[in-house]
Amino acid sequence: MKVHGCTALVTGANEGIGKGFVEVLLERGAFKVYAAARRPETLAPITALDPKRVVPLQLDITIDTQRRAVFPQASDINLLVNNAGIAGSPTPVERRFLGASSMEDARLVMETDFWAHVEMCRGFAPHLVKNTQARDGGSAIINILSVGALFCVVEYSSYSSAKSALALATIGIRAELMKSKVTVHGVFTGAVESRMSAKGTHAKTPAPEHAHYVLSEVEKGAEDIYAGMGALEMHQAIRQDPVAFQRTRIERYWDNPMK
Ligand SMILES: NC(=O)c1ccc[n+]([C@@H]2O[C@H](COP(=O)([O-])OP(=O)(O)OC[C@H]3O[C@@H](n4cnc5c(N)ncnc54)[C@H](OP(=O)(O)O)[C@@H]3O)[C@@H](O)[C@H]2O)c1
Repeated sequence: MKVHGCTALVTGANEGIGKGFVEVLLERGAFKVYAAARRPETLAPITALDPKRVVPLQLDITIDTQRRAVFPQASDINLLVNNAGIAGSPTPVERRFLGASSMEDARLVMETDFWAHVEMCRGFAPHLVKNTQARDGGSAIINILSVGALFCVVEYSSYSSAKSALALATIGIRAELMKSKVTVHGVFTGAVESRMSAKGTHAKTPAPEHAHYVLSEVEKGAEDIYAGMGALEMHQAIRQDPVAFQRTRIERYWDNPMK
């Protein structure tokens, strides 16, 4: 898959990591970028980056009718960036499986961070397959996961569960598309500057730097991509001793007065 000359669709394009993807796709010579967001009024600055190449689209990824409207509208894409996501309730107790007052928040996280991405892959797969014929570089799906898919981030266990499920679904979708020229990439993102990560005081990678790295790895054909501050280091630490790594994270949860 070649970024130069591609036609891409980015979900959650109005903010953070998604906005970084739109900027970098334009910089690297994309032919057209569909910038999708659930609040279209927030897309004005993104469209202004290059009104000839940026096409704003309204898309709440959890709403079936909106997804179904977008599949034919953007049927010319050969790159799908499934980026939009939520971390869960701002109230820590509501992010627990047992302590929450209901499963409403966990279900919304699962709907947004897992099912909606799978539906996006299902809706666009036929177009992505078809469009490989017109482009020698092929087509690609990029699913933005998280390093939190590699273990349970206990403070955000519904988020971790959804991202982990999506990591496995990414493998399943990759296998189903293996005989086509559509490559499927899972991005285990570390810390990146955005609204979602704003509370943390740790070092973070700027969103455009994250996008550049991911797109370069996609062009090289890497399937699992560890991008953003600390992602590769965390992956290595987990591989070395997954049980010990998880144990320290559970201990950290119990030491955290905000849990
Ligand atoms: N930042 C990090 O350190 C980090 C680390 C690992 C993984 N990630 C992943 O990176 C992705 C982007 O997050 P971010 O860090 O850029 O956070 P962000 O700044 O909060 O952006 C999230 C984006 O997703 C959109 N979104 C949420 N729910 C949506 C829905 N139902 N339909 C359409 N759009 C929706 C938001 O739109 P609104 O503006 O309308 O809310 C926003 O554009 C997420 O999948 C996140 O899990 C981030």
